[in-house]
Amino acid sequence: MRLDISSRTEPIHKLLGNGIEKRCITNFYGLPGAGKTQVALCIAASLVEQGEKIVFVDTETGFSFERFLELCGGKSALLKNIILFEPCTWDEQKSLIQKIKKIKTSAVIVDSLVALWRIELSEENVQKLSRELSRFVAELAAIAKKNNLAVITTNQVYTEIESGELELSGRYIVKWWSKNLVELIHFGRAGKRIAVLKKSRNQKEEKKVAFEITSTGLKEVKLGIF
Ligand SMILES: Nc1ncnc2c1ncn2[C@@H]1O[C@H](COP(=O)(O)OP(=O)(O)OP(=O)(O)O)[C@@H](O)[C@H]1O
Ligand SMILES: [Mg+2]
Repeated sequence: MRLDISSRTEPIHKLLGNGIEKRCITNFYGLPGAGKTQVALCIAASLVEQGEKIVFVDTETGFSFERFLELCGGKSALLKNIILFEPCTWDEQKSLIQKIKKIKTSAVIVDSLVALWRIELSEENVQKLSRELSRFVAELAAIAKKNNLAVITTNQVYTEIESGELELSGRYIVKWWSKNLVELIHFGRAGKRIAVLKKSRNQKEEKKVAFEITSTGLKEVKLGIF
């Protein structure tokens, strides 16, 4: 019930317990530049290289064809295995659910889940928007189960004023619906990243891996701090 993502995303493949779980949502969150889009692209490349078909929902024009081809060793024919959607508004993003439901794929990647939602959010509409986000994420989870596929999402964060802690945009809604939750941290000046498993149904939480982003994908590095 897992998809192999080891070819371009080995550190994350190992962190999650030998691949990415099908039938649920795996969410990667972190600050700008933490590596969320790179992780999403590396997972996409790992999957299409094996002949898997995927849906990629790019809500923030983060999908770089140039970078994707670099990851796939220039094999442009692999692009036919990706169905790319580029919604420009939260309403457009919501309406994609009906289309995605009908497509036969191994994975649905949404980068980012909340970017367009956050733009619409205001004090006046917070309840309505929270309900809409709940419905969207619940529908993604239902597609994951019914179509036996993996849903991979990325998530922005903000700093809670009172506690100073990082909090996910969409808070409990996305935390609850994500059955695997991974925090990505940009560590130091040399471009190293740490991925921390914050929630899992079958792996030890707080498990960590350090990695760097390279031309061919994510590579594990030893940091000597854990
Ligand atoms: N080919 C590459 N080789 C090495 N590093 C790369 C490569 N392409 C991009 N990067 C690095 O990836 C980082 C950007 O990561 P990414 O875009 O995934 O962040 P993000 O978490 O999605 O940020 P945001 O929240 O702003 O969307 C930059 O530090 C950039 O240098
Ligand atoms: Mg991004």
